Amino acid sequence: MKIVAINGSPRGMGGTTGKLLEEVLAGAEQAGAEVEIVSLSQTPIKPCVACDACHRVGICSIQDEYEPIKEKLLAADAFVLATPNYFSSVTGQMKCFFDRCNGLAHRTVLEGKYAAAVVTSGGGDDQDVLRYIGHFANALGAQSVGSVASAGVGPGLFLEPEALFAKARALGGELCASVREKRAYPEQDEWRLAFRGRMEYLVSLMGEYWPYEREYWANR
Ligand SMILES: Cc1cc2nc3c(=O)[nH]c(=O)nc-3n(C[C@H](O)[C@H](O)[C@H](O)COP(=O)(O)O)c2cc1C
Repeated sequence: MKIVAINGSPRGMGGTTGKLLEEVLAGAEQAGAEVEIVSLSQTPIKPCVACDACHRVGICSIQDEYEPIKEKLLAADAFVLATPNYFSSVTGQMKCFFDRCNGLAHRTVLEGKYAAAVVTSGGGDDQDVLRYIGHFANALGAQSVGSVASAGVGPGLFLEPEALFAKARALGGELCASVREKRAYPEQDEWRLAFRGRMEYLVSLMGEYWPYEREYWANR
């Protein structure tokens, strides 16, 4: 089982988010997963330019590491999205990555895969960020297994690390169990399937301009 983790912290794995992510991945490895980390601080992703190449030909027109990361996501059974809370949202690095995934969302191509979220912050008010990340995962077709979020009290430091790290490791284990048991999360279906329906309809309207996506939905 393969799990890919995308870390949107500018501090990479040396930051607070990286520390919490490490614990989630340790739990996943313990449950038998092979994990790979993509640190967006090492592989910066440029902003989407809305050229529609992903919709027309299925390949992004921007020259950077997005396409290899996309292939890793497509090859994985599950993924983890990790980010510091920046003004109740994800970091700019992560937002650029999310936006570049627009073609994946138009095809809801990660259906059958599972996602988990990791968020750290200064204040601990992370619900908006978690909801946003959950919607991103659902927009790509994946189901969210759960999340772990915490305020940090210094670089890589937390107030009650033992309980937090136990929760993080359990989340890694849950992610693997969801893949193995092909778990369903029906509470996400209303949003997830409504989004899927909107994308299929949108592509049916725009098929003349977006032949790659038209073919994809026609052959699905
Ligand atoms: C630009 C910026 C914006 C931030 N905005 C918030 C915020 O809105 N709420 C909050 O609780 N913490 C905020 N923080 C604090 C970070 O979320 C927190 O320090 C986080 O744990 C850093 O993770 P890292 O070490 O992985 O970079 C912000 C930090 C920065 C640099």
